[in-house]
Amino acid sequence: MDGNINDISQIIERDRAHVWHHLIQHAPFETVDPKIIVEGKGVRVWDQDGKEHIDAVSGGVWTVNVGYGRERIADAVRDQLVKMNYFAGATGSIPGATFAQMLTDKMPGMTRVYYSNSGSEANEKAYKMVRQIAHKRYAGKKYKILYRERDYHGTTIGTMASGGHHQRNAQYGPFPDGFIPVPHCLEYRAHEQEWAEGLSGEAYGIAAAKEIEKVILREGPDTVGGLILEPITAGGGVIVPPEGYWPRVQEICKQYGVLLIIDEVVCGVGRTGEWFGYQNYDVKPDIVTMAKGVASGYAAISCTVTTEEVFQMFKDDASDPMNYFRDISTFGGCTAGPAAAIENMKIIEEENLRENTLAMGAHMMGHLGELAEKHSVIGEVRGKGLFLGAELVKDRDSRTPADEAHVQAIVKDCMAQGIVIGATNRSFHGYNNTLCFSPALISTADDIDQVCAGVDEALTRVFGAA
Ligand SMILES: Cc1ncc(COP(=O)(O)O)c(C=O)c1O
Repeated sequence: MDGNINDISQIIERDRAHVWHHLIQHAPFETVDPKIIVEGKGVRVWDQDGKEHIDAVSGGVWTVNVGYGRERIADAVRDQLVKMNYFAGATGSIPGATFAQMLTDKMPGMTRVYYSNSGSEANEKAYKMVRQIAHKRYAGKKYKILYRERDYHGTTIGTMASGGHHQRNAQYGPFPDGFIPVPHCLEYRAHEQEWAEGLSGEAYGIAAAKEIEKVILREGPDTVGGLILEPITAGGGVIVPPEGYWPRVQEICKQYGVLLIIDEVVCGVGRTGEWFGYQNYDVKPDIVTMAKGVASGYAAISCTVTTEEVFQMFKDDASDPMNYFRDISTFGGCTAGPAAAIENMKIIEEENLRENTLAMGAHMMGHLGELAEKHSVIGEVRGKGLFLGAELVKDRDSRTPADEAHVQAIVKDCMAQGIVIGATNRSFHGYNNTLCFSPALISTADDIDQVCAGVDEALTRVFGAA
């Protein structure tokens, strides 16, 4: 390696030559520099040119919930690594036990935490639990797992098999059997769903849940072992379920002996103002998965949390040598994850960040509502807490989605202004039309105002004045 390793022009050249970035076409990097984020503090980050950006998506993908530059988390991780960095997860660790207690204290009804290191992996564990239970209890028959259109559960082949993002899945098949789709519950697009003709509000919510029941009956209840849902759909367009949906989903799962898996990878740990998204709906899951906000990206950690009832199914017959969860995640034994997660959770509590999330979420929702009055391209604004989306349409009456290129032009314009926002992208053909906002839970009213003013400008530049 030649020269000063911190020379930014050399860093850019090394990146251009050797790094394969996520989710991006690299041809433009032949003429344009890849973006390198060099530093972060609070809700702001600085790039290689020293340009400041306000980050309205918490690290791009709703992750850095407590903001950048938290020395207290870094110190806790450092101290833990020096003392004991790793041992395989068949054994315990001090931060692992401590965080499991803290976490389950926030989740009445849930008692066991299985550690791994990404949201995809946490969901794979849940699927393996459902499959093993099928073998143990139902002669392998109750193996199918239902998932919902427009939900996303990860990037592995197994989680893509349960992914409702057709465009994201394209070219990566064939996928494994046993994953069955159920319809989405986006009321704004009810007019495109035959079964939802003329329905709205609670009636739509109940009907959407009944569609799940229809799929269970069609497949055969004795073949369906699990249902995985995001509490509020994230990358699928920030979809808040209508009234009536969750209670009916819960009843259906109970009635047909289907384990309810809730994917809290985005909503988990404060994003909606509750500790978990499902806690907005008084629902009792069997398995809950989480990742991103658990340690705000300070260390890789994911959790698959279960009820005692699920856990007991894996220890009820110790004489059977196959009767335990025969799964391992090497890096699930890293202690940095739970060490960071402990401090992350303490910060949220001590700084009252859930209360701030509710207050700032309401502030941002109000702002986006004003933008919708000004810009007819905004068809609907939706969300909960600091988890918000604005669906863009060509025409409010027909609700024809705006072109993805225009939606991306808004994101690009904001980026040029030093404002990082997100948008659904390459997920469903023709429906990549929702702007996404998930600023850190520490955001202030001034931060939110700055973001919304930038979006206003971008909308005016890309779509004209109204
Ligand atoms: C709801 C949801 N589940 C699971 C995942 C997968 O998480 P990971 O990228 O950590 O594997 C994501 C990632 O965006 C997600 O949004």
